[in-house]
Amino acid sequence: MNAETLSEMAVEVLTTADGRAKTALSRAHAATWFAARQAGTEIPVGTAQPPLRPARPDRPALLDPRDVPRRRPGSEKGRIAILHAVAHIELNAVDLHWDIIARFADVKMPPGYYDDWVRAADEESKHFNLICDCLEALGSHYGALPAHAGMWRAAEDTAQDFMGRLAVVPMVLEARGLDVTPGMIEIFERAGDEKSVAAMKVIYAEEVGHVAYGSKWFHFLCGRHDIDPRDAFHDLVRRYFHGPLKPPFNEEKRAEAGLPPDFYWPLAASSSVRD
Ligand SMILES: [Fe+2]
Ligand SMILES: [Fe+2]
Repeated sequence: MNAETLSEMAVEVLTTADGRAKTALSRAHAATWFAARQAGTEIPVGTAQPPLRPARPDRPALLDPRDVPRRRPGSEKGRIAILHAVAHIELNAVDLHWDIIARFADVKMPPGYYDDWVRAADEESKHFNLICDCLEALGSHYGALPAHAGMWRAAEDTAQDFMGRLAVVPMVLEARGLDVTPGMIEIFERAGDEKSVAAMKVIYAEEVGHVAYGSKWFHFLCGRHDIDPRDAFHDLVRRYFHGPLKPPFNEEKRAEAGLPPDFYWPLAASSSVRD
């Protein structure tokens, strides 16, 4: 580890392919960042060129979502498939949080902004490891099944647009996680898989924070540029997110994360497009 700036740390994580190695480095860099913040010897944000796409292990094979086989969620195979898909999402989330730090390091932001995304990256790293442990307890592992290609598409589409990135990644994609996680927890509760239930409850609780960071810093930038947050959110999601948002929405957790209904309902599948 010879990264001297936060952006260099981010690029080190992004260019590490193996999941366990990537998350170990991510957690080590987060610990270094927070130790320095506490000691008052701050690490500079600096600049570094993040790769267009993060390094990935040889396995899982990445397939078009239409080609990823579907399994019945009631079976153990089905539950392994769900855990595998969640592990893949968590690994991408680790990279997404480090990417937003390095990609937009030229925009001056308050120190708390970096604290939030470093904390989020650290939590995603923990989530990936927790879910991998659950997969291994069921005799599988991350890489054993194919996974969705195109998980990085939102990052590529918004590589030049900081506010677009905040709108689409934490405020749409991670908010979607809040909608679907309670249903997944139920599947594992019904199966009596306590280990997976516990892991998913940790994820559910901490993901509220990631959506909240997105909303906080999106509103911060809207204030800086004197633009209306709701209109800006609608414009950016329509520009960068492909397709409507899918109800039902977890209105309670979305509210807790600072996402009011008039942000997402007008973008929903069943709602007619306004303006
Ligand atoms: Fe996560
Ligand atoms: Fe997250």
